[in-house]
Amino acid sequence: MKTIILGVTGGIAAYKSCELVSRFRRLGYDVRVVMTRNATEFVTPLTFESISHNKVVVDTFDKTREFEIEHISYAALASAFVIAPATANFIGKLASGISDDMLTTTVSATKRPVFICPAMNVNMYLNPVTQANIEKLKSSGYRFIGPDSGLLACGDTGAGRMTEPEEIASAVDEFLTPKADLKGKTVLVTSGATREAVDGVRFISNRSSGKMGAAVAEAAMERGARVIFVRGYMSAPVPKGAEEVFAGTTAEMFEAVMKYKSEADVAVMAAAPGDYRVENYSAEKLKADTLTLRLVKNPDIAAAAGKDKGNMKLVVFAAETNDCIPNALKKLRAKNADIIVLNDVTAEGAGFDVDTNIATIIRADGAMTALEKMTKRELADVILDAVSEL
Ligand SMILES: Cc1cc2nc3c(=O)[nH]c(=O)nc-3n(C[C@H](O)[C@H](O)[C@H](O)COP(=O)(O)O)c2cc1C
Repeated sequence: MKTIILGVTGGIAAYKSCELVSRFRRLGYDVRVVMTRNATEFVTPLTFESISHNKVVVDTFDKTREFEIEHISYAALASAFVIAPATANFIGKLASGISDDMLTTTVSATKRPVFICPAMNVNMYLNPVTQANIEKLKSSGYRFIGPDSGLLACGDTGAGRMTEPEEIASAVDEFLTPKADLKGKTVLVTSGATREAVDGVRFISNRSSGKMGAAVAEAAMERGARVIFVRGYMSAPVPKGAEEVFAGTTAEMFEAVMKYKSEADVAVMAAAPGDYRVENYSAEKLKADTLTLRLVKNPDIAAAAGKDKGNMKLVVFAAETNDCIPNALKKLRAKNADIIVLNDVTAEGAGFDVDTNIATIIRADGAMTALEKMTKRELADVILDAVSEL
């Protein structure tokens, strides 16, 4: 049974977390509640103990504790942490590295995913300090659910309402119990950079790290797929469990994709194969003072994958620097793709060798979704969701 540690802080919405405990329990989770001292002013620990069927922890220095060092054992016990409601105060403390109670200490000590569900007055939420704290936590890997907008307990209207327990429960459940919608399907993923030899020791390559392709492969495997992972040179690790096919040059990658294409239900072309190869390549190390390389076009792997693709769904990527949408649309049509994932590589937090991406997903029918900055792993699931919806 998976355990969720629910952190409850001192906001009006604390009463809604009683429903959240029930929902998690009905979904089959063991729920342990950790409350801040101020949260107990709103709802008693006894209420949460009765609903969760577990002891509620408030005090770091409680002499009747179950575990030797409770905050460390809780941090490791959890499949995930959910902080609902999360006050501005809690968010500020976590963002500043303050661990002065059981909840902040436990959350700081965990390596498990933490979902934060803010709930506060609109002005507290929009306060630039709160916003900066949220941004800081997001960039450190904390996940946020909400807040929603609407009428707040204080009578103001705006952003700051805690997301409804039903929605929080299903978002966390979806994360902890991934879908198996690709069971029985084969996903062909290309990843990484190719190298085009200049001479016996030198090559032309590009900055692709292979992180996006690795993320797609991991996500597809988690969703039950068999993954054929055709990869060039990568700085990211090759995902365990994928059927790895090494292709060091564009020509080799072309061959591999042509070979495995017929087995694939979905092909995601996340590699950055070199567009050109050196025609006047020399097997011997070149020593001339000046050198003119003649570059000729390599075969277009994505376009070849899109030709006679039958029922296979094809996803391609476009890394653009200008006229992004028209260029991406042109590429989508040229490759006969079903989806193109566009990223403006000039934007901070997008493109090569970073863990995040800012993408727009464009379908062949012209439907477009501009996404917020997210990790490549999260984007991988959004892409696979879009494929499932085709
Ligand atoms: C009636 C009342 C309601 C409150 N509601 C909220 C709230 O919704 N969100 C929030 O950030 N703070 C709220 N506060 C302020 C927090 O309780 C206060 O900042 C407290 O220090 C939070 O402590 P904690 O984060 O350790 O739980 C409220 C205070 C009172 C008296």
